[in-house]
Amino acid sequence: MEPTKILFVCLGNICRSPMAEGLMIHLVHAAGAQDRFHIESAGTSSYHQGELPDQRMRATARHHGIELTSRARQFRKRDLQEYDHIIAMDRSVLHDIQTMNSYGNAARAQVYLMRDHDPSPDSPDVPDPYYGGTEGFENVFQILHRSNATLLQKLLNTKA
Ligand code: 4NP
Repeated sequence: MEPTKILFVCLGNICRSPMAEGLMIHLVHAAGAQDRFHIESAGTSSYHQGELPDQRMRATARHHGIELTSRARQFRKRDLQEYDHIIAMDRSVLHDIQTMNSYGNAARAQVYLMRDHDPSPDSPDVPDPYYGGTEGFENVFQILHRSNATLLQKLLNTKA
């Protein structure tokens, strides 16, 4: 069977979406399901194109045993036809993706918010940690961990 293709999207592609990508790859490996998923990330902006994730996000990830090695790339319209799930980190990113979706309902991808799968959401958005302190990065990690664990269970249950 073709792997399910997942793209996590934030603004810069250096904090939230690379962390979501690294975490989901980690969870998929722990579930022994690595052959069933293809996981990447992108940013709606081109500000940090080609860069490694922010060193504060990498330090938080490493603290939890995860190395982040992706390089930032900009989201493009054709991603809507190349992925099965496009998962936006906040409502602003979701809006920007929907604005680029000239395929409408014919797009291959389901497009939705990361926190649609958070079992205890206090907001629809994964907060942008870029201009804040280190506790913001740990908060992002915790939100992404529980949201992705819930999402993965749903995907594993719906895929034979
Ligand atoms: P991200 O965080 O969208 O989670 O990667 C940001 C990173 C950089 C900027 C904004 C948000 N920036 O304005 O450069």
